[in-house]
Amino acid sequence: MKTIVIYKSKTGFTKQYAEWIAAELKADLFEAARAPLAKLTDYDVIIYGGGLYAAGINGVKLIKRNLAKLKGKKVIVFASGASPSRAEVLDVIRNHNFTPAEQQLIRLFYLRGGFDYRKLSPFFKAIMTVLKWSLQRKKNPTPDEQGMLAAYDRPVNFTSRENIKELIAYAEAEV
Ligand SMILES: Cc1cc2nc3c(=O)[nH]c(=O)nc-3n(C[C@H](O)[C@H](O)[C@H](O)COP(=O)(O)O)c2cc1C
Repeated sequence: MKTIVIYKSKTGFTKQYAEWIAAELKADLFEAARAPLAKLTDYDVIIYGGGLYAAGINGVKLIKRNLAKLKGKKVIVFASGASPSRAEVLDVIRNHNFTPAEQQLIRLFYLRGGFDYRKLSPFFKAIMTVLKWSLQRKKNPTPDEQGMLAAYDRPVNFTSRENIKELIAYAEAEV
């Protein structure tokens, strides 16, 4: 079975998962900008990973644009965000990024990444600073919000090779 893993990563969390997944599946690995889009149909399993930015999967249009020609193939998308891994998180991501028709063709996984403010571009630093101010103003922040605030001072990394197990099993399963 020929497998390709394509990823887009701003601060390295998605890249780490993509590397683990590609190593596990002995797959070809490409950063999105260098992906051989004309040759996607050569692969049986196509895996795309992107970081989560305001619930959107970074660069997922790459897969959505090519979905029609991938009919009959196994198409997997994984999103890496700072949020804890919960069923409702996966539902929000699924409905925010994919139409019902796309959801039929794509299997989505959420792999918890982390947060590293230091590695953000000036543009994203500015956005996250505004979010920080609004979190700081909250009278009763949730535990998740408190964790997010703490992460500005000390990067958090929740990536774990354990987290890819379900995706690997799905990718390897006979259809
Ligand atoms: C502007 C901005 C928006 C973000 N939005 C979300 C979000 O909606 N949900 C989430 O779980 N994480 C969010 N994050 C955290 C990133 O998704 C997280 O750091 C991710 O692991 C980054 O992956 P990457 O470094 O591979 O791009 C956001 C981060 C930034 C900078």
